[in-house]
Order: sequence, then structure tokens, then C-alpha cells
Amino acid sequence: MDYIVKIQRVEKGFGKELVVKGINLDINRGEFLTLLGPSGCGKTTTLRMIAGFEEPDAGEIWIDGKPVSGTPPYKRDVNTVFQNYALFPHMTINENIAYGLKMKGVPKTERAARVKEALRLVQLESFGDRKPRQLSGGQQQRVAVARALINNPKVLLLDEPLGALDLKLRKQMQIELKHLQQKLEITFIYVTHDQEEALTISDRIAVMNKGVIEQVAAPKEIYESPSTKFVADFIGDTNLFEIEVSPTMENVVFLDLLGTKVGGRIRDRHSLTKRNYLSVRPERVRILAIGEEAPYFLTGTVEELIYVGSFIRTVVQLPQGQRIVAMWQSKGDQTCQPGDQVRVTWKEEDGIVVGQ
Ligand SMILES: Nc1ncnc2c1ncn2[C@@H]1O[C@H](COP(=O)(O)OP(=O)(O)OP(=O)(O)O)[C@@H](O)[C@H]1O
Ligand SMILES: [Mg+2]
Repeated sequence: MDYIVKIQRVEKGFGKELVVKGINLDINRGEFLTLLGPSGCGKTTTLRMIAGFEEPDAGEIWIDGKPVSGTPPYKRDVNTVFQNYALFPHMTINENIAYGLKMKGVPKTERAARVKEALRLVQLESFGDRKPRQLSGGQQQRVAVARALINNPKVLLLDEPLGALDLKLRKQMQIELKHLQQKLEITFIYVTHDQEEALTISDRIAVMNKGVIEQVAAPKEIYESPSTKFVADFIGDTNLFEIEVSPTMENVVFLDLLGTKVGGRIRDRHSLTKRNYLSVRPERVRILAIGEEAPYFLTGTVEELIYVGSFIRTVVQLPQGQRIVAMWQSKGDQTCQPGDQVRVTWKEEDGIVVGQ
């Protein structure tokens, strides 16, 4: 397979602390890949090693088939967009975007044509003569993207580029970046700690935790089939229960939970660990109607009902202090009330058994 970026057994430490712990990642040409994980998990460090601002302590990175260790950033076919735009305040937008080309000695007429094209891509044709402070946050961010694209990099690295924007603008810019990436067919490696953003924007997501990549997959798979407890918990809401798994179990299993047998699915036998968990998304938990039959269910007491738009979030208290959350679409047929005894169930395939 012809990868644009290949990361193999890469490690990086600062002082005594290893912050990237032997990661492997293959990134396809033209792909929108997101590194997603909590603060401090090593996302920026990984991106900086691809860009060449940091060198790995071990392992190797290939860009377009060539190992790049020892190659300085400006000789790599990548460009970076940082969170804080880093535009030069005293220069116009045109000058800001042209800066890199000027340093490379690209002639003036060619520079002007390429700047114009870059501004057109980010829909800021008429803003070239303004200074950065005369632009909104979102517009400044688009200038930063235009500036990074001007050298036609094979890979664009984006480190929380929308972090400084308000939620509405952020959502709009997510769509814009996605469209731009699809149009240009450039590989984007995007860093965020916002799981919703990652799910919206990416072709694939690499979920990082404490310097390790725990899962790499398309958003739908990450959400519906997490491979670890961390991934299940970090992406979306989920109900997690510790359960016992025996090696002889089938892939679709009945597990002992609070003294009841409930259904689940072992996603990947190799990912099981000493302690294992059952993860069930709230929208896959169903409250049984009175008299309705089901192969298995848990019985509990409704603790609270909260309306979230057209959904009702129901917290059910189970024996031994555990809780389960069900999220269901209200059709005006709400029957349960706080204090009611209810039975909850889910399909076997919606109860994912994951390791730690
Ligand atoms: N230059 C440095 N010197 C020492 N420690 C560093 C350096 N850069 C990063 N670290 C540490 O390495 C770890 C990973 O940092 P990194 O910036 O890669 O995290 P991140 O996933 O990008 O987090 P965030 O979401 O907060 O940006 C952190 O514990 C951080 O303190
Ligand atoms: Mg970071």
C-alpha cells in the first residue's frame, strides 16, 4: 500500500518522561486523518515529529516513501497550521501569505498569482490588502490555512486550528476545511481533543491515550465498535460495566451482570485484558413496555428524566448502586416517571465487550 505518511514504532520523551510510546500509523494519500485524545496525550508532539520540529528518539517516519529523520522542516513536503494563526500583524494579508514564497525567491508576478489563488480557495479574494487585526477570528484562521497551502504541500498538518473560535464559527469552519480538503485532495492530519469535531470532520480517527494509539478507524466504527474502555468512554456517552469474560466464550455472549445474564459481543478477542467491560451506548438501551417480552433485561428504578431536544435521557438506578442511562426519542408516548420500576434491555450486538 502506498502511504503518504508512515509512522513506525516512534518514541519520544522529554527528560525522563516518555510521551509518545512506540506508535504505528499509516496515513493514506488524500485522507483526512484526525489525532484525537485528551490534553497531554502526545498529539502535538506526534504532529511536530511529522513536521520535523522534533526528532523521534526511536522509530522512523516516512513521507511519500522516504525516511525523513534528520530532514529539517522546510525540506519536508508538509506544512503546519497552528492554533494561534501566527500571522505577522504589521503585514497585509497578501504579504503574510506571500512570505514563504518570497523567502524562496519566487518572482513577484508568480507570487501575486499564487496568493490570489490561495485567497480564492479560502473565499477571501477581496481581503488581501487588509491587516490581520481587520479580520475576524475565522477569517484570520482561513488566512493561516491559505498561507500553509501556498507551497502545495503534500500533507497539511493542523494543530487545533479552530480552538480559538466560538462554537458556531467552529462548526462552520469544520465544514469549510472538510470541503477544501476534498477539493484539493491533499492529506490533512488534524489534531483535536474535541470528539464531536473529530467525528464530524474525519475519514479516520486515531484515538490517542497517554502516548499510545488505542484505535484507528472510521468515525462510525470508532463510535459503534470501540476497541478499548478508554475509546468507548472518551467518544460519545456510554454505559460501562465491569464484567467477567472467560476464554472459551463465543463472540456473542451472555454475561453475568448484577446477577442477571445479559447479551454482549466480543469485538476483538485480542483486545481483551485482565479486567474487561461491557459498553452500551445510551441510545441503544431500551426501556421495555409493561408486559413486553425480552430475552434478558435488568430491573431498576427511574431516577430522573431529562428532555434533551426531542430526546429523553432517562437515568435508571440498578441494584448495587450502579446506574444505566437510556436515551430515547420522545413520540409523546412517555410512560415512565421518576420512582417507577422499569426493565431495560439492549441487543446483543449493542453490548460491546472491551478490554482496558
Ligand atoms: N518541549 C517539551 N518539554 C518537556 N515536556 C514537553 C514538551 N513538549 C511536550 N511536553 C510534554 O509532553 C506531553 C505531551 O504533550 P503534547 O503537547 O504532545 O500533548 P497534546 O496531546 O498536544 O495536549 P493538548 O491537547 O493539551 O495540546 C505533556 O505531558 C507535555 O507536558
Ligand atoms: Mg497539543
